[in-house]
Amino acid sequence: MKTSIVILVALAFQLLSLEVATGITVVSIDSYGAIANDSSVGAAVSNSHAIAEALQKAAPGEAVLVPRYSHYYTFSSVVSDIADGIQLWIEGELIAVSNITAWPYDGNDYLNILQIENCKDFVLTGHYLGAIRGQGYKWWVNTVFNFIDKTRPNMVEMTNCTNVVVESLRVYNSPRYHFHLSNMTDLIVRDIYIWVDVTAQRDLLEKAKVKRSTSGSGAWNLPMFPLNTDGIDPSGRNILIKNITCQNFDDVVAVKPGKLLTDGCTQNVTVDGAKVIFGVGMSIGSVPPDSDINCIRDVWIRNVEFTNPLKAIYVKTNSGKDGFGIIDNINYQNISIHDPILWPIYIGPQQQKEPDGGGDGIWPPPQPLVNVTNILLQNVTSDNGWLNAGVLRCAESNPCRGITLDNVHVSGWASDFYVCENTQGTVTNSTPVPSCMVNNTMQQGMTTSQNIL
Ligand SMILES: *[C@@H]1O[C@H](CO)[C@@H](O)[C@H](O)[C@H]1NC(C)=O
Ligand SMILES: *[C@@H]1O[C@H](CO)[C@@H](O)[C@H](O)[C@H]1NC(C)=O
Ligand SMILES: *[C@@H]1O[C@H](CO)[C@@H](O)[C@H](O)[C@H]1NC(C)=O
Ligand SMILES: *[C@@H]1O[C@H](CO)[C@@H](O)[C@H](O)[C@H]1NC(C)=O
Ligand SMILES: *[C@@H]1O[C@H](CO)[C@@H](O)[C@H](O)[C@H]1NC(C)=O
Ligand SMILES: *[C@@H]1O[C@H](CO)[C@@H](O)[C@H](O)[C@H]1NC(C)=O
Ligand SMILES: *[C@@H]1O[C@H](CO)[C@@H](O)[C@H](O)[C@H]1NC(C)=O
Ligand SMILES: *[C@@H]1O[C@H](CO)[C@@H](O)[C@H](O)[C@H]1NC(C)=O
Ligand SMILES: *[C@@H]1O[C@H](CO)[C@@H](O)[C@H](O)[C@H]1NC(C)=O
Ligand SMILES: *[C@@H]1O[C@H](CO)[C@@H](O)[C@H](O)[C@H]1NC(C)=O
Repeated sequence: MKTSIVILVALAFQLLSLEVATGITVVSIDSYGAIANDSSVGAAVSNSHAIAEALQKAAPGEAVLVPRYSHYYTFSSVVSDIADGIQLWIEGELIAVSNITAWPYDGNDYLNILQIENCKDFVLTGHYLGAIRGQGYKWWVNTVFNFIDKTRPNMVEMTNCTNVVVESLRVYNSPRYHFHLSNMTDLIVRDIYIWVDVTAQRDLLEKAKVKRSTSGSGAWNLPMFPLNTDGIDPSGRNILIKNITCQNFDDVVAVKPGKLLTDGCTQNVTVDGAKVIFGVGMSIGSVPPDSDINCIRDVWIRNVEFTNPLKAIYVKTNSGKDGFGIIDNINYQNISIHDPILWPIYIGPQQQKEPDGGGDGIWPPPQPLVNVTNILLQNVTSDNGWLNAGVLRCAESNPCRGITLDNVHVSGWASDFYVCENTQGTVTNSTPVPSCMVNNTMQQGMTTSQNIL
């Protein structure tokens, strides 16, 4: 009895001092006219406005609160030019209304659920309580059957922001990407749970395949899931993504290029710690050539466990004839892959087939205009696959250079070889050895043959 009182007092004191210590003013979206627990279009319009207005009018250091236990239906909240340490605390749930006819749009794009442009010192947190539900299913159906002529909403879109933290939030079933974070400087994303109803997506694509089989599109016979429900797509510099759990049928993290000739490469990106179910990989790209030179360099992807991925390690160039691209110094370390559905390792031209027939197809030619250099795969295991170990496909006129496989072991039904074209580098302590890399170490100016297996 006595102990519990002491604990209670200690707890109360701790809570009190936390309030004092943080000293953050918290303003509920309710005070801007938000209406909880009401799924009507009217309430969703009010809520979208309330969130945007509360953020736009927040005083320096203020936190805008989506109160816990309540649901708030929304469309799109668009905010720009916020600075001074403003925070958004989503402790309740935001639920995107799945009414496509009522969804606001601008030109060819539906507006994103939460869209923030030009921000500085911003925090988006769920305090391990909150969630955003995208209710993407209707959007996916309409996409698969080509009823949508505009780009679907992303869930969280941030552009051109500096010093941002996104943390401790759960997100479900975005109409399109969950987090599209472009041109960010000093970004941390951590403790994020991303969940997509892949069963619903699979059933949907199965129906579409049946419908399309009459038109004889071979791509639909491969398990490819082109709904673009990516997890996190960042670009910019100094980006740390930590402790992610993700189930989806598209890129888990897709590091997107910056432009070398204008703002600079996307660079210094770390992904550390992730559990992935399905997914189409921790990806670099895709990188098409560009006249400003699309560029990604200095990326570390560590400590990732994949179960049933379509692809896991995925470095992808894209088609295009104008300009150049750079993919340089990409490091995958300590990666374990279980039961891959397609290739656990894929470096080469992006495989893509969109519902409208767009995309480069399933076996496109390698892209010679993008330099792919210095890619390290270290401490990688993949077990129980059924395709061959991996795909390394680079252009004859511009081979991939400085590719290192160190302690990379792929096993499975047909895992005794890689598809390997024009790939140069070193292989140590790895099985199998990509055949086209066996004798090309000398082309790298290496002086010993010790590393050649
Ligand atoms: C919304 O409903 C939940 C129960 O589902 C309740 O706990 C909460 O207080 C409600 N919010 C408001 C503002 O009435
Ligand atoms: C969707 O929005 C339109 C336009 O506001 C409205 O007429 C319609 O009733 C809404 N549908 C549902 C199911 O709420
Ligand atoms: C991006 O932010 C910078 C300031 O950091 C500003 O000068 C620039 O205009 C912004 N770009 C866009 C497209 O808004
Ligand atoms: C990208 O961000 C940088 C740094 O904030 C800024 O200077 C630049 O204007 C941004 N670029 C665009 C296209 O907005
Ligand atoms: C990782 O994030 C999850 C939420 O997705 C959280 O429950 C867990 O405590 C976090 N792990 C660490 C070590 O912070
Ligand atoms: C690279 O990014 C990390 C965050 O992942 C940051 O701590 C570090 O300072 C950055 N390095 C440079 C040189 O800016
Ligand atoms: C490698 O990853 C596993 C989880 O997949 C983790 O438990 C282990 O600590 C990591 N090892 C290193 C050296 O980081
Ligand atoms: C790779 O594995 C070796 C041997 O188990 C270990 O010493 C090293 O720390 C690992 N490196 C990484 C980056 O996980
Ligand atoms: C690509 O590599 C070639 C050969 O090393 C080099 O001449 C060229 O400048 C590189 N292109 C870019 C955009 O860095
Ligand atoms: C590698 O070089 C050895 C010795 O010159 C040769 O016997 C072997 O056929 C070569 N292998 C490949 C894949 O070129």
